[in-house]
Amino acid sequence: MTLSTLHTVFHIKEIHSENYRTKTFVLDAPLPGAHPGQFVMAWLPDVGEKPFSIAGAEPLKLTVVAVGPFSEALHALQPGDRVWVRGPLGNGYRFSGSRHLLVGGGYGAAPLLYLAETALARGDAVQICLGARSAQDILLADAFQKVGATVAITTDDGSLGTKGLVTLAVGQALEAFAPDTVYACGPVPMLSALANQCRSADLPCQLSWEALMRCGIGLCGSCELPVEAGKAAGVPSGWLTCKDGPVFISE
Ligand SMILES: Cc1cc2nc3c(=O)[nH]c(=O)nc-3n(C[C@H](O)[C@H](O)[C@H](O)COP(=O)(O)OP(=O)(O)OC[C@H]3O[C@@H](n4cnc5c(N)ncnc54)[C@H](O)[C@@H]3O)c2cc1C
Ligand code: FES
Repeated sequence: MTLSTLHTVFHIKEIHSENYRTKTFVLDAPLPGAHPGQFVMAWLPDVGEKPFSIAGAEPLKLTVVAVGPFSEALHALQPGDRVWVRGPLGNGYRFSGSRHLLVGGGYGAAPLLYLAETALARGDAVQICLGARSAQDILLADAFQKVGATVAITTDDGSLGTKGLVTLAVGQALEAFAPDTVYACGPVPMLSALANQCRSADLPCQLSWEALMRCGIGLCGSCELPVEAGKAAGVPSGWLTCKDGPVFISE
């Protein structure tokens, strides 16, 4: 049994409201050995255990959208309350080149902020394209600007940034920013479109996939990515999101 299969208890130090249904929980200790793109399993007694991307590791931060029983239970916690965490788990992003184009949909912005901070600390150039349904769903745009990344926003209804899908902003960034690699986290249709876009531009991409997780360590098989979902990116059948991913690297 490795250390990452055991829970560590953290206390909540601070809670930041990011938008109408998203909070960032700043915990009271670092998560040793963490890399951007990896995740943790968070456990609450009598509620359950769910995966969340590492949004920062020193100290550990989790950015959580309230969508159901577990995330709502997390949202009800207060500073000083406890959260049990297993991790870091899975394989994260791997820097390639020095010009990084990040693409986030929904809470996909959370692991990308940690990636942006790490890349900028190396002295690399970072642009992020953030996409959402409308202005109120855009996540962490100010935080990306604050760390020094260039930010491009698209919304489906045009209420913030350019009206349209995030792939529109990606098309412009491929020309203007000329990235070495594209890194993304978001819903499956966004990842599939991006995989096609990168293939056409002959650019490597690193896509973070999501699936139902139970064990988080490659034992139960519940997180096998459906072949249809990962087809555009060339994800092989039998690929376990928790152990082989969540990031799939196409070179
Ligand atoms: C590797 C990985 C990393 C993840 N990282 C994060 C993260 O950083 N932040 C985060 O908030 N979530 C993240 N998730 C998703 C998170 O695990 C789910 O939000 C969690 O299952 C919610 O549990 P629940 O009991 O609150 O709701 P559930 O009962 O599991 O879900 C309620 C309903 O909401 C839908 N749903 C689930 N997640 C979302 C979502 N994010 N947006 C819209 N609808 C959704 C479900 O399909 C379901 O219909 C991640 C998942 C994976 C696999
Ligand atoms: S969650 Fe059990 S194998 Fe991935």
